Amino acid sequence: MKHIIAVIAVGLAAWASVYMLGLDTEVHKMDSIARIIKSTAMEDSKLGGQTVKTKPVVHTQAKASPAKSQTKEMDKKLAALRERAGNLAAFSVSPLYKKSCASCHGNVGEGIIGPKLMGRTKDYILTNLKAFKDGSRKNYVMYGLLSKMPDSDLESLATEIGTFQAKFDAATKK
Ligand code: HEC
Repeated sequence: MKHIIAVIAVGLAAWASVYMLGLDTEVHKMDSIARIIKSTAMEDSKLGGQTVKTKPVVHTQAKASPAKSQTKEMDKKLAALRERAGNLAAFSVSPLYKKSCASCHGNVGEGIIGPKLMGRTKDYILTNLKAFKDGSRKNYVMYGLLSKMPDSDLESLATEIGTFQAKFDAATKK
């Protein structure tokens, strides 16, 4: 049963990645990113936070959910980003992140089906990725994705995601 769910999850992720890569070739890259961000905002309001079913076992000092004012601030910045999608050129992610993670966590780590990763430290990300991989933090989707991924990839993804907030700030700066 576990395996079936993991296989379905990975299949879905693969499909989403292929779909997103397809979009990129079809239309101008920035247009597609802007569109994805826009649809992401819609998805967010539709899902309304009911997606995360399991509780994280690894905690950091960071607050679990941003304060309302922070969320508003983020929305404002995302809106600005949409208007000036050209600035997203400054926010290029690695092929690995794009292929394996962006479909659920968003092109800039803003969170879609999966939680927001932007603003998390490298340490937080790496600790959780390792916990998903070794099963100490249970999530079939993340386990299915990471169980075969070498630790060096986890490390480089964590390093990359740790820079998302700074990159985002730079891209949205007036
Ligand atoms: C098919 C969707 C999907 C894909 C693809 C995916 N994730 Fe996730 N991810 C999730 C979900 C859902 C959760 C929430 C799991 C939970 O809370 O137990 C999550 C949780 C996480 C967390 C923990 C976040 C937190 O604040 O606790 C990290 C870190 C993470 N993912 C990183 C990644 C990375 C890196 C990749 C690419 C290798 C990736 N994810 C790909 C769906 C996905």
